[in-house]
Amino acid sequence: MTDTIRPEDQVLVALEDGKTFLIRVRVGQKHSTHKGAMEHDDVIGRSWGDVLITNTGARVYLLRPRWIDRMMKVHRRTNIMYPKDAAFLIAALGLQAGARVVEIGSGSGAMTIALSRAVLPGGMVFSYDRRPEFLELARDNTAAAGIEEGLVFRLREGGEALEPGVDAVFTDVPEPWAELDAIATALRGSGRFAAGTPTYNQAERLAGALPGFGFTMVETAEILVREILARPGKTRPGHRMVGHTQLLTTAVKITAPGEDDLASDSGRAAPDTGADPPEEGSGGSS
Ligand SMILES: C[S@@+](CC[C@H](N)C(=O)[O-])C[C@H]1O[C@@H](n2cnc3c(N)ncnc32)[C@H](O)[C@@H]1O
Repeated sequence: MTDTIRPEDQVLVALEDGKTFLIRVRVGQKHSTHKGAMEHDDVIGRSWGDVLITNTGARVYLLRPRWIDRMMKVHRRTNIMYPKDAAFLIAALGLQAGARVVEIGSGSGAMTIALSRAVLPGGMVFSYDRRPEFLELARDNTAAAGIEEGLVFRLREGGEALEPGVDAVFTDVPEPWAELDAIATALRGSGRFAAGTPTYNQAERLAGALPGFGFTMVETAEILVREILARPGKTRPGHRMVGHTQLLTTAVKITAPGEDDLASDSGRAAPDTGADPPEEGSGGSS
C-alpha cells in the first residue's frame, strides 16, 4: 500500500453530503459530480485522506475504498448481498486467510468480492452460476475490484458436483435445498454452510431440509442496522432504514459414526413444504 495516490488507483471520492463515487484515476481525465468537477491530474500524487476542492468550491475527500465500498459499487444486473449481511456471513462461515470456499450464485459478484477479501491471501473462492452472462458480469466486477488471484468462476447447472474438500459453502439462489446433496458432498467435516434467502418460506424449507443431509446447529437470523444520529443533546435514530434484505440460515456439517455416506444418500429428498418456488433471477437477495 502506497502513501500517495498513483495513476490507475481506485479512489473513493466522498462529498460532504455523504455521496460517494468510486473512480479509477487516469492521467488527463476529469470527474464531474453534482458539486462540481475535479481533474484526475490534481488527484495523482496526493496523500490518501487529502481534501480536494472542486471547481465550484465543494470539498471532496480522497479515500481508500474498503471491500464494502467495492461491493456496493459493482455494476448490478442482479440483486446483491449487502455488506451488513456479508460481514455476518463471513464470521458465521468462519472464513479466514487460506480458507477454500464455494459460492453458488455468482450474480453480480458483490458477495464474491467479500468472500475473496476474507480468504486471501492463500485461499480460494470457487464461484458457480448457471448463467454465462452473470459469470461474465461477476468476473468483470471482481476484476474491477482488484481481485487477481484465488478466484475461479464456473458454469454449473443446479445439482451438479462442486469443488470437493472445501471449508465453507455459501448460496444465494432461489432453491438452496435442491443443492444440499452436492453441498454436503463438497464440504469437509465440520465445514460451514450459509444461505441468503429473501422469504420466510424459503428459509423454513431450507431449515427443514438441512438435517436430512448431515447438517446440525441450523440457525436463521436477520441483520437489522439502525443508524443513530449522535449529536450533542439530540441523539436519536434516523428516519429511514433498510427494512429487509435477506434471511441468513447457517449450519455445520457433521459426520456421525456409521453415517459417513449420509450426505451422498440421494434417496433422501428434501422435505417439500408445498411452497411455490421463487422466481428465477431473484436469487436469494432482494
Ligand atoms: C441474486 S443473484 C446472486 C447475487 C450475488 N450474491 C451478488 O452479491 O452479486 C442469484 C444468481 O444465482 C444464479 N442461480 C440461480 N440458481 C442457481 C443454481 N441452482 N446454480 C447456480 N446458479 C444459480 C442466477 O443465475 C443468479 O445469477
